[in-house]
Amino acid sequence: MATKGKTMNILITGGAGYIGSVVTEECVAAGHNTFVIDNLVSGHKWMVHPNSEFYEADIRNTPVVNQILQKNRIEAVIHMAAFSVVGDSMSGPYGYYDNNVSGGLLLLDAMRESGVKKIIFSSTAAVYGEPEEQPIEESVELRPTNAYGETKLAFEKALKWFDYAHGIKYTILRYFNAAGASQRCGELHKPETHLIPLVLEVARGRIPVLQIYGNDYPTKDGTCIRDYVHVRDLARAHILGLESLEKGSDVYNLGSGRGFTVREVIDAARKVTDRLIPVIYSDRRDGDPPILVASPAKIIQKLGWTPDYSDLTSMIESAWKWGNDHHHLAKASGEPRW
Ligand SMILES: NC(=O)c1ccc[n+]([C@@H]2O[C@H](COP(=O)([O-])OP(=O)(O)OC[C@H]3O[C@@H](n4cnc5c(N)ncnc54)[C@H](O)[C@@H]3O)[C@@H](O)[C@H]2O)c1
Repeated sequence: MATKGKTMNILITGGAGYIGSVVTEECVAAGHNTFVIDNLVSGHKWMVHPNSEFYEADIRNTPVVNQILQKNRIEAVIHMAAFSVVGDSMSGPYGYYDNNVSGGLLLLDAMRESGVKKIIFSSTAAVYGEPEEQPIEESVELRPTNAYGETKLAFEKALKWFDYAHGIKYTILRYFNAAGASQRCGELHKPETHLIPLVLEVARGRIPVLQIYGNDYPTKDGTCIRDYVHVRDLARAHILGLESLEKGSDVYNLGSGRGFTVREVIDAARKVTDRLIPVIYSDRRDGDPPILVASPAKIIQKLGWTPDYSDLTSMIESAWKWGNDHHHLAKASGEPRW
């Protein structure tokens, strides 16, 4: 993809992670110079784009961050480094505030000191909590029901005041559920808690049975409904978000606008893989809202974003193919279960 705007030097925090590695690919394809900082707490060195300069470091290491920003004349930051397991945030909120809020603030202040005026922030549907109105628009009241969502919201609020005080322009992208893979990069969290990769691990026989948390939600089959967006579509939105910063700061939902129940995802995965996927039901998890479906109307209208891969089957197919093709790399790097 050729770039519409000028070539930029972009620092991607969390660029060794699932979404960060695919966002880096999109930035490289758009002609930007990319630099990745990642402490590999949940990322993978082999997923860092080969054309990117990689710094294995923590975003809370301010001297290193300042050096990266200044030496490379960074013009924009895409901030994706974070902890993002809802259950962990409920049992250990300190780590979530330390990484997602304090870490984010240290990064923002380093940007201020180095004169970097643009940031794209990976936020989440978890900032909404459990709104009754579905699909969810950006204007809905923000009432997170878990500590993870609270930490993301706290950083969203800080962005507003850093813009006011220091002119740092931001695009906040509130992702719903990223899914699928590019040819080179896919979903491999440590530990994995996301539905599609877990379902596929059961299909491969690496996990004996899939645990479904709750079958008594007020949905058509009793399981939770989520909105899945292909990671490549999601990555493209970052390029549009960067270009839109010329017009000022804003916040957008990033989802497909369609919801699927957990059981629908499993049925689709059974068809794609042609494998049995045994399941057991257990109690609901703390902080899991019954339905989260985005209204993507704003990002479609204002940024001209449209998803290329909106059907669930193609997302699962790309994740399945990626897992089959990259099995050896994951195994060689000592990934558990591979
Ligand atoms: N995956 C989703 O569906 C989803 C949904 C909503 C929001 N998000 C957000 O998107 C971002 C990326 O998510 P992901 O699924 O790719 O997760 P991921 O765990 O694969 O990627 C996060 C990366 O950040 C790195 N990291 C974490 N803390 C760091 C620190 N202090 N310093 C340097 N690096 C650090 C990790 O090593 C990892 O490579 C996160 O901010 C997450 O909250 C993801």
